[in-house]
Amino acid sequence: MRIDLLSLFPDMFAGVLDQSIIKRARDKGLVEIVLTDIRDYASDNHRSVDDNPYGGGSGMVMMCGPVFDAVEDVRRTGEPVDEIILLTPQGRRFDQPLARKLAGKQRLILIAGRYEGFDERIRRHLATMEISIGDYVLSGGEIPAMVVADAVIRLIPGVLGDDYSQVEESFSQNLLEYPQYTRPADFRGWSVPEILLSGNHAEIKKWRQEQAINRTRQRRPDLLDKQDIL
Ligand code: ADE
Repeated sequence: MRIDLLSLFPDMFAGVLDQSIIKRARDKGLVEIVLTDIRDYASDNHRSVDDNPYGGGSGMVMMCGPVFDAVEDVRRTGEPVDEIILLTPQGRRFDQPLARKLAGKQRLILIAGRYEGFDERIRRHLATMEISIGDYVLSGGEIPAMVVADAVIRLIPGVLGDDYSQVEESFSQNLLEYPQYTRPADFRGWSVPEILLSGNHAEIKKWRQEQAINRTRQRRPDLLDKQDIL
């Protein structure tokens, strides 16, 4: 898969993309990530990428020219593009089913905006999808783009070990995670549940399933009504 990240602050992505699971996925050639600075596509001497809104009002709006030019330039090379995604608070709420859907694509372009938003013509005539990562407003689309990229990349076959892919496919998909413990068996008087030390795998599996169901019922009862969730 190839993911193009278009932003006015491409340096913001470095720490996230150059470590841990995403770094390994890139090193293995499972995902190619290409950063593009939208400002490189500004056409005036001031390198403008935003301007005042028609009709007045506060705040600045991302201009069509640099965003269209940047997208059209990056899509000239490489695989055909499946989705051109704007990160905005007005978009479809991001969730695990959408991450799974995007993980099946060959190529995504993610566009992170700044300022008060995008010129409406970018939404209407360039983007194929708008995604919000939740009902709050961030100062730009870079962190949302990283959230989407991370959630998608870890689902690409081969990125995580076999253990993880089994978890993703198991019954636990529509439940919150059960409680996990590791050494020591006793920490400051708080001990690990006896069952986990028993070596009885069938009983442990049953206990974990019960715990996952109870935890989901207590914390996220809404998830129990859905078919295709976490
Ligand atoms: N840009 C600013 N806030 C955002 C959000 N919640 N989701 C996606 N993009 C955003």
